[in-house]
Amino acid sequence: MALEDCKMLDLPKISDPRGNLTFIEGEKHIPFRIQRVYYLYDVPGGADRGEHAHKTLRQFMIAMSGSFDITLDDGFSKKTWHLNRSFNGIYISPMMWRSLDNFSSGSVCMVLASDAYDENDYIRDYNEFLSLARRR
Ligand code: TYD
Repeated sequence: MALEDCKMLDLPKISDPRGNLTFIEGEKHIPFRIQRVYYLYDVPGGADRGEHAHKTLRQFMIAMSGSFDITLDDGFSKKTWHLNRSFNGIYISPMMWRSLDNFSSGSVCMVLASDAYDENDYIRDYNEFLSLARRR
């Protein structure tokens, strides 16, 4: 999987003076069926999250509130995005080492995932990730 597969995707936004509304349908607005939702919150200043890759899992990450940075690394190159809107997010293909940092206070990072939690899908060692990623 190449870094070019990972993109910021704009989501539908219904603007309304009463407040905006955004919705997400799996396989329509993001390229997979949603099997799991989780979120990071109460992240203390200076904390780093992520620091792993997934063998097969696909994810879509949104800053529901506040902001943070995400860096994706496909084993050859890296790219960083600053997420700070609720109407867009980053699509993360399999075999991407991800690092999240620079969380603003009160930020919430919501993640939509293509599968249930499976620790066997994680690669938590960066050198192991590099050797697998560069073999492709
Ligand atoms: P992890 O994915 O390593 O966190 P992050 O990438 O945000 O830094 O998960 C942290 C812990 O939470 C780890 O012990 C596994 C557990 N966990 C679940 O039990 N279910 C889940 O859906 C997720 C995402 C994590």
